[in-house]
Amino acid sequence: MKMLITGGAGFIGSNFIRYILSKYSDCRIINLDKLTYAGNLENLSDVESSPNYRFVKGDICDTELVDRILKDGIDAIVHFAAESHVDRSIHDPRIFVKTNVLGTQVLLESAFKFKIDRFIQVSTDEVYGTLGREGSFSESSPLQPNSPYSASKASADLLARAYFETFRVPVIITRCTNNFGPYQFPEKLIPLFITNALFNQSLPIYGDGLYVRDWIYVEDHCKALDIILHQGKVGEIYNIGGGNERTNLEITDLILKRLNKPKSLIKHVKDRPAHDRRYSLDCSKIKAELGWSPDTPFEEGIFRTVEWYVTHQEWWKKVKSGEYLKYYQKHYQLEDPS
Ligand code: NAD
Ligand code: TYD
Repeated sequence: MKMLITGGAGFIGSNFIRYILSKYSDCRIINLDKLTYAGNLENLSDVESSPNYRFVKGDICDTELVDRILKDGIDAIVHFAAESHVDRSIHDPRIFVKTNVLGTQVLLESAFKFKIDRFIQVSTDEVYGTLGREGSFSESSPLQPNSPYSASKASADLLARAYFETFRVPVIITRCTNNFGPYQFPEKLIPLFITNALFNQSLPIYGDGLYVRDWIYVEDHCKALDIILHQGKVGEIYNIGGGNERTNLEITDLILKRLNKPKSLIKHVKDRPAHDRRYSLDCSKIKAELGWSPDTPFEEGIFRTVEWYVTHQEWWKKVKSGEYLKYYQKHYQLEDPS
């Protein structure tokens, strides 16, 4: 199989490329990535010399480039490329619409033109909106996104659905819960708190910290995508979740304990606007129809992740200087990270 992976230099995309290359010796991958602040070729330094891997620097919004890649014969597209951080979407929604909505449309159009066999639209549980204490979202729950990020992902999902209904592009939509693991950009909760705590910097908890996410170790997400790519039914949606609902304070506690750091590092700060209270997914469909279930127990995943950030300080120190620093100095009062 020859695959186009978009956004493969980011967190989940790079983990997915590593997963696929180690599992299949006959799978060839082209990674199309614009290398935004979140894209980092160092995430793939161990696979870059593989004869089955090729990197193309470029934008998914560039129709000519996407057409050129697909013309060469691609069997499947696994579409990760996106602006992915809710806070950034609140500060600057426009790029989210451009990349996540228009970029997805460019890929779908090209997939139609060149008769691609599979198009996996990698989406998120955030498109469903927020829950109270009870219940879970199923694949047929209404889309009620609350942030510009989730609205842009929901829009892309709807376009993907429309390209299936109208043009029979063989689309499958996946909606996964919050991922964590190696190579996650340290602006998201878990890597931000690990890297801050390591240097005794404060951990900014939004509001009361009782917001709930369902967490999944990134490798379990990769495994689900692989199964869906090979056995999923076109036109379908599959929820993917770790079954690990935790409050942000519970996660913070676990990280602090593992690093042997004091709770006094926790700092309650102003809440995020329209902050979704709780996410929870009903994943019975993928379990029953495709036999997938997550393998990594939550605490084990967190310990592995903490260990990875402890042993990869060069990686994240570089990432946390540069553009990251400029952004955070503009939007937040930052402690000196040195
Ligand atoms: P990420 O921000 O780490 O990586 C995004 C990648 O996309 C980066 O390499 C970036 O350079 C690239 N990119 C951005 N704009 C591009 C463009 N215009 N053209 C080409 N490449 C571009 O994101 P992630 O956390 O790895 O998420 C990957 C996908 O999974 C996203 O679509 C996201 O919505 C979805 N998702 C993420 C999570 C999560 O918890 N991280 C959960 C569910 C779904
Ligand atoms: P995040 O990792 O940004 O993922 P998402 O918003 O897509 O779920 O945030 C996870 C949770 O952690 C969310 O409830 C917001 C909260 N959070 C904080 O309390 N402080 C922070 O500094 C960050 C980045 C997130």
